[in-house]
Amino acid sequence: MNAISSRILDQHTAVRRVLPNYRSSRWTIADALKVRTDDPTTTMPVIDYNFPVMSNDVMIWDSGALRDMHMRTVTYKGWFVLWSLAVDKIDKTNAKIYDEWHSRNDRAYIGYWYSADGVEWTWGGRLFQTSADLRPWEWSGSLVMREGTENKVDMFYTSVGAPDGNSVPAVCSGTIHADDKGVWFEGFSASTEMFKADGVHYANASEDAYFDFRDPQPFINPGDGELYTLFEGNVPGMRGQFVVGSDEMGHVPPGYAVDAGAQYGAAAIGLSRCVSNWRKGDYSRWELMPALVTALGVNDQTERPHFVFKDGLTYLFTISHHSTYTGKSTGPDGVYGFVSEKGIFGPYKPLNSSGLVLGNPSSQPYSTYSHFVDAQGYVQSFIDTIPAAGQNAESPDTYRIGGTLAPTVRLVLDGDRTFLTEVHDYAQVFAQAAWPASLAYDVRA
Ligand code: FRU
Repeated sequence: MNAISSRILDQHTAVRRVLPNYRSSRWTIADALKVRTDDPTTTMPVIDYNFPVMSNDVMIWDSGALRDMHMRTVTYKGWFVLWSLAVDKIDKTNAKIYDEWHSRNDRAYIGYWYSADGVEWTWGGRLFQTSADLRPWEWSGSLVMREGTENKVDMFYTSVGAPDGNSVPAVCSGTIHADDKGVWFEGFSASTEMFKADGVHYANASEDAYFDFRDPQPFINPGDGELYTLFEGNVPGMRGQFVVGSDEMGHVPPGYAVDAGAQYGAAAIGLSRCVSNWRKGDYSRWELMPALVTALGVNDQTERPHFVFKDGLTYLFTISHHSTYTGKSTGPDGVYGFVSEKGIFGPYKPLNSSGLVLGNPSSQPYSTYSHFVDAQGYVQSFIDTIPAAGQNAESPDTYRIGGTLAPTVRLVLDGDRTFLTEVHDYAQVFAQAAWPASLAYDVRA
């Protein structure tokens, strides 16, 4: 064998070495039957109609603190950093804000904030140069310090829109800089696509016109030290042609009949493994793997999945909507979760038996969304709409639009149960480490 072919074989062996064998876990109809809105241990606090806004110039929603590949929130040179999906506010009087807010996805870009104390935030503006945009809109992802470097940063995000109408997880890289006045970024001039929906592991456009494929959330697996990413997907197969059987139903009560519409719920929490040389910053090649959790028959969207590694347990969180439940299943907008005792490949069981971790209160059903649970249990989310006292939350005339971050809350993660225990300031971020205190790749959780 010549030198080149033996090197290829080595690489191949290295990649295949630990190919895990696992089955997707299920969020069943029976699990979802246990969802209870307004349980005080799993409900977001009521938000004051007169909430403060972070900026009068931009409206923001999905946001995330700068972190490392082990899911720990980090500061850089003493600064807290947050990325956000953003649109510039056109009407600063707030009179026509309703249309601006509800059409925001078609103008979304990624911007950033910095703060000396994790409470008062300064808007830093756009993160990417326009040359980085493969498609017109930038949707959710994660901003991560690159392991082994002083100041390289990778923004994993979702590239969305024309010309091909796809949504594709992508990565754009640059450097972070700071002085005593603030934080700025350089680079971020070109994007690389990570992987696309293949119709085999995850639904693609030809199977499901409403397919979801976005929100990459990469991490180093404490179990094998390799780089993977979570993402939002759907179960592969033709929309409208799924059969919801006993596996999807779970242990339902006697006489429970599955509603015909249940099969339109086909959410999947996706997993993919990086097979290019990510230790050298090459994130170009990924291998799609089976979903970690599927919600066939229950719900059509499990968005923005992310991990917390704690006490030897693997907590998998995801956000979902009241409106994406299907059949007779129902629950609030909020963050849901699953836990595995055996590492990232599962099996997973729903937290709190139902899966619900923090839902909006029934008095404010659309108060918050896009919750992100960090490694210490702090949860950020954005304010969507807050009804005026005594008003119907659905009427545009009587609610106040958010576009800013909600009060940060804290969860205690206790085995397979979670408890809301603390409410902090609006938009507050708590850090766990100061970059580059831990440059090492192989930190085990
Ligand atoms: C949920 C979400 C993400 C997406 C973004 C678009 O918050 O739907 O999945 O990336 O919002 O605004």
